[in-house]
Amino acid sequence: MTDLAEFIAGLPKAELHLHIEGSLEPELMFRLAERNGITLPYRDVEELRAAYDFTRLQDFLDIYYKGADVLRTRADFHDLAAAYFARAARDGVVHAELMFDPQTHTDRGVPFEEVIEGLLSAMAQAEAEFGITSQLIMSFLRHLPEEAAFETLAMAQPWLDRIEAVGLDSSEVGHPPVKFAQVFAAARDKGLRITAHAGEEGPPEYVYQALDLLKVDRIDHGNRALEDPVLTQRLVDEEVTLTVCPLSNLKLCVIDDIARHPIDRMLQAGLKATINSDDPAYFGGYIADNYRAVVDARGLTRGDLVTIARNSFTGAFLPDAEIAAHLARIDAYVANAE
Ligand code: ADE
Ligand code: ZN
Repeated sequence: MTDLAEFIAGLPKAELHLHIEGSLEPELMFRLAERNGITLPYRDVEELRAAYDFTRLQDFLDIYYKGADVLRTRADFHDLAAAYFARAARDGVVHAELMFDPQTHTDRGVPFEEVIEGLLSAMAQAEAEFGITSQLIMSFLRHLPEEAAFETLAMAQPWLDRIEAVGLDSSEVGHPPVKFAQVFAAARDKGLRITAHAGEEGPPEYVYQALDLLKVDRIDHGNRALEDPVLTQRLVDEEVTLTVCPLSNLKLCVIDDIARHPIDRMLQAGLKATINSDDPAYFGGYIADNYRAVVDARGLTRGDLVTIARNSFTGAFLPDAEIAAHLARIDAYVANAE
């Protein structure tokens, strides 16, 4: 495993499923609380970390939205994303597609501009400092009405050339993709790419809706698609990338044991599975930790890891020439590691 651990850290990879608000480490949360004169309902970092004990998605979301309250200014958003990039660089991430939840902030009175300008400045810095390229995925909160998503899309209008895609996240069950069919059509008309969380807790029907009604380019999670062989085969045939998050699945009880994670079944079925960290500050690990966890639990081979890293680039919202350059970089890395 030492060998494989080293191989994983150096393997060029893209992170396609990362909520930037979910990379807010307790230490930074306390620092930002102090900077903004906010009192957190936890004595210290240890007490906060101890609260990260979830039995389902909603348990996590309740704490995650509260944690985001310390993010008030563009400097806060900059520092948040800068910390993520510094950590991702150590894990061999060369391209990251960051999801952000504007409604979590604008509903608290934080201007959209503060959020996005803080993130964009950290993204520019990451490219200069670490050579990491990045893009933004603006995610709509599915527990809110579609009208609110339309308002967010309108607010984003001045920055649409800096936003690559829209996504759909938050409480899945009871909020099927069909609820957002109109706003995703509007986003597509503006030239944005499309992704959506589906099949994390929700049934295979939600994955069908994401494909047929939202016309997604990829699926975030997608675990429960495996319950439906026809759907699984369709995802294979249509080469739909799944952004899988093993440690998240464990922490949110989507699986009861990492030893039963379906990542290898996904690969064997021919699905374009990738490995990502989702909300690393809350789920106990960054992207390389996620790769290592499934190597330990499911015995993935070097070949599997290379397939997963390749899938992360073929599934990225990047121009073909950039994807080809990243794939060549993987080939060179593998040849050199032999
Ligand atoms: N928001 C942040 N992380 C999420 C997840 N794993 N599922 C749904 N919404 C989220
Ligand atoms: Zn997610």
